[in-house]
Amino acid sequence: TKDKNGISQAILRNPRGASARVSLHGGQVLSWKNERDEELLFTSNKANFKPPAAVRGGIPICFPQFGNRGSLEQHGFARNRTWIIEDNPPPLQSFADSSSSDKAAFIDLLLKPSDDDLKIWPHSFEFRLRVLLSVDGYLTLISRIRNVNCKPFSFSFAYHTYFSVSDISEVRVEGLETLDYLDNLCNRERFTEQGDALTFESEVDRVYLSSSDAVAVFDHEKKRTFVIKKEGLPDIVVWNPWEKKSRVITDFGDEEYKQMLCVDAANIEKPITLKPGEEWTGRVELSVTASI
Ligand code: BG6
Repeated sequence: TKDKNGISQAILRNPRGASARVSLHGGQVLSWKNERDEELLFTSNKANFKPPAAVRGGIPICFPQFGNRGSLEQHGFARNRTWIIEDNPPPLQSFADSSSSDKAAFIDLLLKPSDDDLKIWPHSFEFRLRVLLSVDGYLTLISRIRNVNCKPFSFSFAYHTYFSVSDISEVRVEGLETLDYLDNLCNRERFTEQGDALTFESEVDRVYLSSSDAVAVFDHEKKRTFVIKKEGLPDIVVWNPWEKKSRVITDFGDEEYKQMLCVDAANIEKPITLKPGEEWTGRVELSVTASI
């Protein structure tokens, strides 16, 4: 299908009625719904759907740079480019669990740098993204980035995931206890997490380092728990702009910070380096359950 700006989108559906929508602009997941047709990802009411901007919500992909750590535009250019559908990508190494492509609905996208991209980032790459909706309604994103150049390059990466929550002050994140983090609100200074679980009462913009491969977001009011499982992605970004920052983000409503939380599976602290011909894989699996 196409949206009102003429951008192609793919809709994935599973037999139980869950669905996901992926835009070819940015390779960005714009919607993920459970079998009761409830939206699980946040999208701003003020989102700008006109390219080249990335939509404020869903899962924009940050590549080859995270934030402003480098000379490129914020979060790199992948989220601002048009991807293509790839009908026959090279085979994926199989994963033992639910993300196996049998019976799942999936789509394969491909991004290669344009001549203009090569002027700002002179490294030829092939970025393959598989978005997969399993029979259980799990959403899996598998990114494969290959160096097709004759010299090495390094990059950072994040699945900038905007979860929809009912009230941020009732949300708790588990799995980050005792970890070190870089605080973007404090010149990326390094701190150690002291609390049991993370709760929210002001702006948060952190990169948790070397987290375990599962992190959970509990939404008490909605009685819903998101579980984020990841591979190849050591870091976790946690972001909520809170009241003051929300007012300066033009494509974000003043009160919308209450309904979202970004928890990104990422690789930021130690950039990945690929030699010519090498490929990197980074995978995230999102699931949601009703909590008691
Ligand atoms: C977060 C960063 O991941 O993304 C924040 O840590 C940033 O610093 C936020 O403000 C949103 O970025 P953008 O470019 O989508 O407005």
